Amino acid sequence: MKILAIGDITSPGGVEHLRGGLWKIREKYGIDFCVVNGENASVINGISKEAAQTLLMSGADVITGGNHTMHNYSVHSFLEESPAIIRPVNYGDKAPGRGYTVIDTGAYRVLVINAMGNIHIEPVLDAPYPYIDKVLRACEGEYDIAILDIHAEATGEKLAVAHSYDGRINVIFGTHTHVPTADYTVLPRGTGYVTDLGMCGEGGGILGMDTGTVLYKLKTRMPTRLKPSDGECFADGVIFTLDGAVCTDITRIKF
Ligand SMILES: [Fe+2]
Repeated sequence: MKILAIGDITSPGGVEHLRGGLWKIREKYGIDFCVVNGENASVINGISKEAAQTLLMSGADVITGGNHTMHNYSVHSFLEESPAIIRPVNYGDKAPGRGYTVIDTGAYRVLVINAMGNIHIEPVLDAPYPYIDKVLRACEGEYDIAILDIHAEATGEKLAVAHSYDGRINVIFGTHTHVPTADYTVLPRGTGYVTDLGMCGEGGGILGMDTGTVLYKLKTRMPTRLKPSDGECFADGVIFTLDGAVCTDITRIKF
């Protein structure tokens, strides 16, 4: 089984980039299942319902979220309606939507969990561990493959989560920093892991955002509406190949 995971979409341009190219990439690499982190798909306004629907029609099987997901109110009802878009599970039961989903592709029943770290990231949610444990218990016997998107700032926290679930969750990847890491590895009990997938959006700026506006914000501390960079769009992704429950290969792609 081949699972493609794509890093944080940083703009509507990133959504368009996937709309134009994701199905071709799926075909080229024989992808069975695709997870996209879409929390910034509408720039600083989180992800709109329209952007989420476009991504699902463009080849994403599941959209995961993070600290920006709730910023766009238009997506709240869609989080309730659609099993294909999830938000961090450690928001708890009071937030709209769900923190995990099981998608039956016909060949595989895939459990996807989204959780947020709580070191140097806001909002500060509860630690993810008990929430993930609860999902694994609740879904026991209902899935063949489990995937976790741990949306966090701190590298060490993502690694700690990965080691906690090595052998219990088949694929674990980090999101949020927009910087692709080169530490992809198969952990001792067979889990495929990478600390951060990277991003999908306009290049040439700072983490997908326009250099000038980011510098103005950092140098003046004035309220600044960030805008996407004006470089060419690209997508960072990682393909995890599984043989049964064990990850046998991890390949980075950029398209
Ligand atoms: Fe984030």
